[in-house]
Parts: sequence; C-alpha cells; structure tokens
Amino acid sequence: MKVVETIAEMRQLREQLIEPVGFVPTMGYFHEGHLSLIRRARAENPSVVVSIFVNPAQFGPQEDFSSYPRDPQRDLAILEKEKTDVVFMPSVAEMYPPDFDSWVEVSKVTERLEGASRPGHFRGVATVVAKLFNIVQPTRAYFGQKDAQQAIVIKKMVADLNMDLEIIVMPTVRDSDGLATSTRNAYLNIEERQAAIVLYKSLSLAQQLWSQGERDAEHIRQQMRTLIQKEPLATIDYVSIADPETLKEMDRVKTPALVSLAVEIGKVRLIDNVVVE
Ligand code: PAJ
Repeated sequence: MKVVETIAEMRQLREQLIEPVGFVPTMGYFHEGHLSLIRRARAENPSVVVSIFVNPAQFGPQEDFSSYPRDPQRDLAILEKEKTDVVFMPSVAEMYPPDFDSWVEVSKVTERLEGASRPGHFRGVATVVAKLFNIVQPTRAYFGQKDAQQAIVIKKMVADLNMDLEIIVMPTVRDSDGLATSTRNAYLNIEERQAAIVLYKSLSLAQQLWSQGERDAEHIRQQMRTLIQKEPLATIDYVSIADPETLKEMDRVKTPALVSLAVEIGKVRLIDNVVVE
C-alpha cells in the first residue's frame, strides 16, 4: 500500500495502476459504512484508491471542521488490511492553495434538504469531489446511500460536466438497532446514542404506513414528527418525502420516494433516509 500526500505523487502512481481503478473518497475515521464501499471497490477493481481528506470547504463557519474526529493511524491500518493500493491524504494547503478560486455549483437539487440547512455545503462537496476525480481519474467511484442527496448531487455533476466515470451508490450500513453508522455518532454520549434510534424508528414508521396503504405524504410526515417529538433529546431540522431525482416534496406518495430527515440529538446533527419502492 502506497500512502501519498501530494497531487504530483498521486498522478505519478495513477499512471502505474492497472485499469479499472475503483475510488472511495472519504473524510476518514472509518466505520462499517466506509468499509462497505472500500470492500465493494476491492471486489470490482484490480486497483483501489482511497482518499482521506477532511474538506474545510464543505463545513459551515459554525460547523465542526476543527473538531471533526480524525485518526489517520487507525485508518491506515484498516486500509492496509483491506488491501488498498493507494491512499491519497493531502493537506488543506495542497488542495486549496492561497490563490484557489474556482468552485463547482450544482444548482436545483442542492436548494433543498441538506442544501437548505447547510448553505454552501454542496458547493464544497462538489468542488472537492471534482478535484479528487481529476487527480485520481477513477473508472468507478463509490458513495453511500446514507448521504442520499450527496450521491444525487455527485451524479448530476458527473452527468452535466461529462465526467468520464461511473458512480456506484451502496446501501446504508446500520448498527443492529438501526442507527446508520456515521463518524458523527462518535459525538453521542450514552443517553444520546439511545435517543438516536428515533431516526430509524421514524423512517420505519413511514415505511410501515406506506405498506398499510397510506399515500398522503403530509400525514406520514406528521406521524414521523410526532414520533420524534416524543424523544426529549431530539430536535427536528426537517422531515421529507420527496422525489428521489428532483428532491421535490410529494403530496401523494409515488414510488420510488425518498424519505429523509435531519434531527439534532443534543447538539449532534444526524441524517438518515430510506427509499420506499
Ligand atoms: P464521509 O462522511 O467520510 O463518507 C464517505 C463515504 O461513506 C460517503 O460516500 C458516505 O455516503 C459513505 N457513508 C457514510 N456512512 C455510511 C453508511 N452508514 N452506510 C454506507 N455508506 C456510508 O461523505 C463524505 O465523507 C464527504 O462528503 C466526501 C464525499 C468525502 C467529500 O468530502
């Protein structure tokens, strides 16, 4: 396994990799969700590149960029075990030199949900992912359904800008009680970790109501909100039932429907989703 920190070294190694090249962009501090992407990339490609870069451009000024969990030594040991070929872990200065001045903006689909709650977030994500694609030049790149809107934004960017690679979206990995694995789960104390189950519970409720024949989207949203509001540590940011392509809210639930939510548990903001189909 080669570990490189500069763009020049990454480009040089890229030339020696056997095609096709699978790529997993991450911000590190690995959990089972990351591992599912890395293992799929390993299974499908003779060469695997993983990037670890906590991207300041996708964090808002009041967000957790400086406190975001980092453990590069543990991450590297995991990547070695998973037989990763190249790890790209650039510094912030390497990715964003002082004169950096170009940004990738994906419009409509970024106006809703996470985009509405976190202004500038997807501009930061699209820009760093475009840069990483240009540097690594992967054949396929792997993303998680956990961040459903992110996967939609990346697919749109790739289609609109004619980027020559395939985007593969992998199912959400969950703990045994249903909580989606996430780096930010590390912020939860014991009581908050218990309370965080309410996200998956409310998504399961939506699925249950839908299978019982409920088609009134607002009724389902309302039932979800009522369930979440029973949890004293939870504060709802949004509860959405939307078209998975346009992210427009539905009145009547038509399949497929993306049921998604953002909830603060204490001070920790968590997101999750399921697709009803
Ligand atoms: P990060 O949060 O580290 O996530 C890296 C990848 O792992 C993303 O594609 C994310 O959707 C996926 N992932 C996270 N939790 C998952 C879970 N429980 N199940 C399945 N996949 C999961 O997402 C980012 O980093 C950044 O925004 C990035 C794309 C690297 C750009 O900076």
